[in-house]
Amino acid sequence: MRILVVHGPNLNLLGTREPGIYGTLTLDRINESLVALADELGCTLSLFQSNSEGALVDAIQAAAGTCAGILINPAAYTHTSVAIRDALTAVALPVVEVHLSNIHRREEFRTHSFVAPVAVGQITGFGADSYLLGLRALFTHIEKGIV
Ligand code: DQA
Repeated sequence: MRILVVHGPNLNLLGTREPGIYGTLTLDRINESLVALADELGCTLSLFQSNSEGALVDAIQAAAGTCAGILINPAAYTHTSVAIRDALTAVALPVVEVHLSNIHRREEFRTHSFVAPVAVGQITGFGADSYLLGLRALFTHIEKGIV
């Protein structure tokens, strides 16, 4: 089973970007721990990060027919992107949305997610562990065969 992991804009700066909010782990370290967990679970990951909305849409579209599900931190596009939501709907794969920070206890504009209504669920506020919890949740969901 292959799972697409999508990181949105500015997440390439993790490690130095607002460490009080997002922690000190780099994106490479987060990806390493995701790959280790995927090995343990018995699945394979495709890892993708972009700062561009169109490139994120292209990566999501390419998951159709190749991946069993999508783990996504859409970052700022969470709150703005109908295009990413539409791409997720179009590929009709199970989606788990993750955030490092708890988007519901920050600025009001971060509390709305365009992705949440098309996701199986959302994990938010556990730092880098949100990704690991999200991968476990998505893997279990796919294994159960729930559409
Ligand atoms: C984020 C939360 C978003 O509001 C923000 O724009 C990000 C990161 C998070 O992981 O906490 O870039 O998705």
